Amino acid sequence: MRVLILNGPNLNLLGTRQPKVYGTTTLADVEDMCRAHAPDEQLSFLQSNHEGAMIDAIHAAKTEQDGIILNAGAYTHTSIALHDALASVELPSVEVHLSNIHAREAFRHHSYIAPVALGQIAGFGAQGYLFAIDALRAHLAKPT
Ligand code: DQA
Repeated sequence: MRVLILNGPNLNLLGTRQPKVYGTTTLADVEDMCRAHAPDEQLSFLQSNHEGAMIDAIHAAKTEQDGIILNAGAYTHTSIALHDALASVELPSVEVHLSNIHAREAFRHHSYIAPVALGQIAGFGAQGYLFAIDALRAHLAKPT
């Protein structure tokens, strides 16, 4: 399985960014955890603070990947453009958040990603990415 693991704005600061909310695990640690969890899968990682770069990566994934794991950061709550990009490429996608966005400020409760994702995993810290890999693998293994 070829998977793009795409992280959005401010997630490059993981480890030092609001550790009470996001923990002390860095993005490099998350990538190591994913590789250790799924050594036989082809995982590609990209982090960008730029919405357009994320959209370009989603477009490129259409032909290069079997699925997408997306933590769009704050763009989750604002970006119709990311919603449209995911809808356009029609790849199975799993939405991940380290924190439980539903237990936080009201402005984090709505996700533009959720309606175009297979599902959402939120509140389990870095482990959420591992759950997302498993969810995508199970989805792709299902007979069509
Ligand atoms: C986040 C939650 C978002 O609300 C926030 O803007 C982030 C991180 C998470 O992983 O918990 O940047 O996506």
